[in-house]
Parts: sequence; structure tokens; C-alpha cells
Amino acid sequence: MLALDALVDQDLLICPRCGSPVRREDGEWRCAGAHCVYAQDPFPVVAGVPALVDFEHSVLDADRLRAVQGASEVSRSRSAGLLRRLLHPANTTAPRNVARMLELLRTETRGRRPRVLVVGGGTVGDGLEALYADPTVDLIAFDVYASPVTQFVGDGHSVPLADASVDGVIVQAVLEHVLEPTVVASQIERVLRPGGIVYADTPFLQQVHEGAYDFTRFTDSGHRFLFRRFERIDSGSVAGAGTALRWSVDHFVRALTRSVPLGRVASLVFFWLSWTDRLLDQRHSVDAASSVFFLGRKTEEPINGSDIIDYYQGGM
Ligand SMILES: C[S@@+](CC[C@H](N)C(=O)[O-])C[C@H]1O[C@@H](n2cnc3c(N)ncnc32)[C@H](O)[C@@H]1O
Ligand SMILES: [Zn+2]
Repeated sequence: MLALDALVDQDLLICPRCGSPVRREDGEWRCAGAHCVYAQDPFPVVAGVPALVDFEHSVLDADRLRAVQGASEVSRSRSAGLLRRLLHPANTTAPRNVARMLELLRTETRGRRPRVLVVGGGTVGDGLEALYADPTVDLIAFDVYASPVTQFVGDGHSVPLADASVDGVIVQAVLEHVLEPTVVASQIERVLRPGGIVYADTPFLQQVHEGAYDFTRFTDSGHRFLFRRFERIDSGSVAGAGTALRWSVDHFVRALTRSVPLGRVASLVFFWLSWTDRLLDQRHSVDAASSVFFLGRKTEEPINGSDIIDYYQGGM
């Protein structure tokens, strides 16, 4: 991963309020714009990193963020290794698409290291281990909380990075948690250089997770249209109808018995449903997928309403 100092030295950081450069002086982070509120009041520093957030237009609250020193408001425990492997067959979609993204970027950056941004990257996403271990990629990551795998705290609704500053963007399991996905998608487009590549994967038929911080779902077509100013390289389901059904059993049992542990037990009993995803017809499965993905290249020519009707790749 790039060091925070490298982002400063390369003038990549901008004010999320007004877009002026961000300056660090005597440990304080301020906007260089003469009339900006963040020129007077510095950005908070939490867990040693700046929170480059326009708090007036964010679900984040500056005082609360300072009080918890940038810690996540949501508990981030994952089930233990063996249990996780049983319930979640390895995600092969993300590594395949990210490898393709890097291969395409490398032919274009001609020797320059590709710069890839991870939006909502507080944890290393499923199947992204190889990307994080790749010493030839300049990785930037941020999230709404401070984490050892991010360089700063930020909000995807106003990404504090300069226009056209990255070659690739990864946004995995994040767009359901933002209030305005179209705004976040247009920020992704803004920070990508012309011809830059996005990989997004997002839930479709998944129950609420992360409690109060869960807002939206996407069909495969809706997800593709969110990235309307991108040319499609590939898209489809990440986890299919079997996984969606296992989640439904879990949450049905929770609701019926008023017990989360009993829901988890039911999920374990039906673990095999997730493993059926690979056997299912892809067209029917995408209509009932647990999550969908889109890999695409930024373009000047957006698709329109009739293009998205032609795009439909389900089974009806
Ligand atoms: C389900 S987690 C996925 C995390 C990681 N991408 C992964 O796949 O392991 C959703 C993430 O979105 C982040 N998030 C929520 N709202 C956000 C926002 N407005 N801007 C950036 N990240 C956000 C959350 O903090 C959380 O880390
Ligand atoms: Zn500013």
C-alpha cells in the first residue's frame, strides 16, 4: 500500500468540501482554499490519520469520530475460519476480475505502477488477498473508520482524491451501505483517469446487515446502469440463488424463533445451498442472485434507457 506521506507528496489529497488541495502543517490537516470552512477548522485526526470528510454532508459526525478515535460504529467480527469456509465457498469472481483489471491496466500504464483505489476498504475484501500482496500495485484505500489497511478516513460521497488520479477502483460490498449510490458512482468516475477501470460487487438478495448502515440493493441490470458511464467488460452474479436461499432460511428462522443463534444454526444446516450456486443455470441464478458484479471501463458515451433493456441477462 502507498504510505500516507506519498499521497501528500504526490498532491493527491483534496478537500472533500471544495476540492482545493489539502495541506499538512505541524500535524494539522487543512484545506488550502481561502474561503473554505476546513481552512479555518482543521480536519480531525483519529488513530493518527486525517478524517478528510465534509461532515456537513455525511452520515459521519466529527465529534463522535474523535470520541471513538476513528473506530468502526459497526462490530466487524467474522465467523471463524472453518465455519466461514463451509458457509462461503471461495469467492473466485473478485480475484478473476481484479486480475483482469490489472492485466488491462498494465498494458496501458507502460511500466508505470497501476494506482488502484479501494473504496470502503476497512477490511481486505473476499478474494482480494493477492491484490494486497502484489508489490507492483500502488494501493490506496479509505473507509468511514480508521483501519490498519487504509491511509485515511473518508466518505465515498465526496472522495478526497484529485480528479483522474487513479487507474482502477474497487468497491466491494459497499454500495448497499451508502445513502446515495449514484453520487458514489459518479465520484468513482471522477477519480478514475479516462479509460480507467472499476470493479464493483454489491448485494442483490441479501438481508439487512450492518444494521442502521444498510440502505439499498441492486438487480444485475440496476447495478450495470449505476455505472452507465462505463463500457461493460464483464458482469453477472458473484453468489447465486443457492446463497440467497441460505441467507433467507437463516433470517426466516431468526424472525420465527426470535433468536439469532437459532438462525445461525439453520444456516449451518443448510450450508450446502451456497455450494449449489455453481450448478445453477446462470441466467436464472442472476435473477435471484445473492450479489452481483460489474467490471467496466470509464467512457465518454453513457448507455441509455433502451441500452439497459437490451442488456438484461436474466432468464425471463
Ligand atoms: C460489508 S463491509 C465491506 C468491507 C470491505 N470492502 C470488504 O469487502 O471486506 C462495508 C464497508 O463499507 C463501508 N462504508 C459504509 N459507508 C461508506 C461510505 N459512505 N464511504 C466509504 N465506505 C463506506 C463500511 O464502513 C464497511 O467497511
Ligand atoms: Zn476546502
